[in-house]
Amino acid sequence: MNSHFDHTAASGYAERTARLVPGLRDLHKMACVLMDERAHSKARVLVLGAGGGLELKAFAEMQPDWRFDGVDPSGEMLEQARSTLGPLASRVQWHEGYIDSAPPGLFDAATCLLTLHFLPATERRKTLEAMRTRLKPGAPLVVAHHSFPNHGKEQDKWLVRNAALAIASGVPVAQAEGSIAAIKERLPVLSPEQDSELLHEAGFTGVEMFYSAFTFKGWVALAP
Ligand SMILES: C[S@@+](CC[C@H](N)C(=O)[O-])C[C@H]1O[C@@H](n2cnc3c(N)ncnc32)[C@H](O)[C@@H]1O
Repeated sequence: MNSHFDHTAASGYAERTARLVPGLRDLHKMACVLMDERAHSKARVLVLGAGGGLELKAFAEMQPDWRFDGVDPSGEMLEQARSTLGPLASRVQWHEGYIDSAPPGLFDAATCLLTLHFLPATERRKTLEAMRTRLKPGAPLVVAHHSFPNHGKEQDKWLVRNAALAIASGVPVAQAEGSIAAIKERLPVLSPEQDSELLHEAGFTGVEMFYSAFTFKGWVALAP
């Protein structure tokens, strides 16, 4: 599988991500609340793109009896996740690889945060389908990633706003401004309409947007 995530960027991941993603801690809490709406107290949860461990740590702290399968192709990011979780890591089964490395389930809930924007649309749909087949009927999937108009002046407007927010959050100006071209060139970003459509195409129902923060959007959807 192809993705444009830079695996050399694992060190300092937590601090960088908190600066770049508006409301990151609350995004984790919202994702957990949305999964909890339908999952039982001893739920088994699939976390795709689990590298770094930030959402796993938040979920494990909020739900002491949930168990997790964390999947990520980067050994370095998984190592960082184990270290972020500390003793909580014992509640996670780790899988180095892509979605096909995940157990068949069936899971009570699943998430994929800040990851799908690295995948071109065809690969994204296959990945979403593979997540759907691992979920129990009616189980929630929570996703969040870059999703904004992907051409013309609207694209530029949101990327400039994104860079300005990063600067306001302490990211060096040159780095934040450089991200405008980098995101345009490297990330196969979809518009929110395309992202929502893709969830439907992958077989999910009840698709709802729950998070919109400049260039980032999040959805909850249900396995049929
Ligand atoms: C920006 S990080 C997000 C990590 C974590 N979900 C978070 O929200 O902090 C993206 C992660 O996705 C992983 N990744 C890249 N392509 C992937 C794919 N096709 N399937 C699963 N994970 C992937 C990367 O190795 C990296 O750990």
